[in-house]
Amino acid sequence: MIVVKTIEEMRELREETAGSVGFVPTMGYLHEGHLSLVKKAREENPAVVVSIFVNPMQFGPREDFKSYPRDTRRDLAMLEPLTDIVFIPSDKEMYPKDYDSWVEVKGLTDVLEGAVRPGHFRGVTTVVAKLFNIVAPDKAYFGQKDAQQVAVIKKMVKDLNMNLEVVTCPTVREKDGLAMSSRNTYLNGEQRKAAAVLYRALMLAQELVFRGEKDAGAIRLEMKELIEKEPQANIEYISIADNETLKEIHHIKLPVLVSMAVKIGKTRLIDNIVLE
Ligand code: PAJ
Repeated sequence: MIVVKTIEEMRELREETAGSVGFVPTMGYLHEGHLSLVKKAREENPAVVVSIFVNPMQFGPREDFKSYPRDTRRDLAMLEPLTDIVFIPSDKEMYPKDYDSWVEVKGLTDVLEGAVRPGHFRGVTTVVAKLFNIVAPDKAYFGQKDAQQVAVIKKMVKDLNMNLEVVTCPTVREKDGLAMSSRNTYLNGEQRKAAAVLYRALMLAQELVFRGEKDAGAIRLEMKELIEKEPQANIEYISIADNETLKEIHHIKLPVLVSMAVKIGKTRLIDNIVLE
């Protein structure tokens, strides 16, 4: 495994690489969710590149950029058996002083996470476009955990004719259903237990739909009531949306994306399932 820090070194290594390159962009503090993407990339490509970059441009001014967990040594040890190249650029390498360019996907970013985190997706699409230009992968791997992020990146790749395939990988969960996330480390013991309520609410929605409930409003309400039983939980949004347009629906017509953002204490968690 080779670790590179500059764009120039990354480009040189890419040029020397034969066969297809699978790429997994991350912000580090890796867990089994990230590793599932790396394993999938490993299965499908002779060369695997992982990037670790906590992208300042996708954090809002009141968000957790400074406190976002970082442990590069641990990350590298986890990647060692699976990865050929790890790209760890500095903030300056990615955004030099005179940096002025942005990539923005309209429409899909107006709703859900985009509606409550202004500028977030502009930061994501900008950094991912830059990373795609630097790494030049044949396939890039993203988690369903961030459902809107994959949808937005697929749209960017299509609209801008980027020459790669975006692969979506299933959400990896803890035993009690909590979706793995680097941010789960913010939770104390009691909050960690409370955090399983997100998955329980998703399972409730699934059960209601499979029992024949067609009224999306009624399902949202039952999910809300379940989550509100957790004193630590504060709902930011609960959404039942068309899985393609991500627009809220009134009447269930599969496939639908059931998603939510819930604060447990000060920690903001997101999760989703697609019902098909
Ligand atoms: P990060 O949160 O580090 O996630 C990196 C990738 O891992 C994303 O594609 C995310 O969806 C996936 N992932 C995270 N938790 C997962 C889980 N429990 N199961 C499956 N996949 C999971 O997402 C980002 O970083 C950034 O926005 C990035 C794309 C790197 C751009 O900065």
